Amino acid sequence: MTKVAVWCRHKEDNIIAIGKHIPWNIPSDTLFFTNMVQEKNVVMGRLTYEALPNRTIPNCKIFILTSDFSYKPSDKENHFVVDDINFFKDFAEDLYIAGGAGVYTDFLTKGNKLLPDIVMDCVYEGEMQSGLKGEKREISACIPVLQKKYIKVAQSIKDNVQRNMYIKRGEFVDQAVMKNLLTQMQK
Ligand SMILES: NC(=O)c1ccc[n+]([C@@H]2O[C@H](COP(=O)([O-])OP(=O)(O)OC[C@H]3O[C@@H](n4cnc5c(N)ncnc54)[C@H](OP(=O)(O)O)[C@@H]3O)[C@@H](O)[C@H]2O)c1
Repeated sequence: MTKVAVWCRHKEDNIIAIGKHIPWNIPSDTLFFTNMVQEKNVVMGRLTYEALPNRTIPNCKIFILTSDFSYKPSDKENHFVVDDINFFKDFAEDLYIAGGAGVYTDFLTKGNKLLPDIVMDCVYEGEMQSGLKGEKREISACIPVLQKKYIKVAQSIKDNVQRNMYIKRGEFVDQAVMKNLLTQMQK
């Protein structure tokens, strides 16, 4: 089924986070993400999960990647622990890939069965917040893959964030998934 990667990176350096923080606050971009993943399956790394308000996204099933299989999610019925990314190779339902940096990089670089069908490449063009402490998390390794294996089919801009939709070159993409994403891009 369809795999969709969704990120917002800083234009200059592909940074998506500094330590535990996204170094910009764009409510329309947060809403864009939340609307896209409504009632969907979402996969994310443990640190992204722990950065979510209340460790949840309402109405989503969340798959948390962690090497700690005894990890306790906040919602036992709707959140699941996965310790091997290969679990998603033959995932039977649509899947939204929500970071962080290593998770995006693994999905884009570890072979065709993990490669997303669609990438929602959001690019923040403004200044980053200064004074944040922590390691810079960036996804530069994903960009050459995006340029080589994907083709841009749509773009829009809102609040200094350019939203680009890329699909895999030469492959069929589920029209219903694409239509929903295009609708969200225009909001
Ligand atoms: N701007 C954006 O679009 C965006 C998107 C997503 C997240 N973020 C931000 O990025 C920050 C966190 O990102 P991050 O890159 O530092 O961390 P992360 O990817 O969310 O989490 C890293 C952790 O996930 C687990 N993990 C990752 N890949 C794994 C794999 N292949 N197999 C098993 N476990 C795996 C490991 O957990 P264990 O240590 O438990 O083994 C690892 O330490 C947060 O601030 C978040 O808000 C920004």
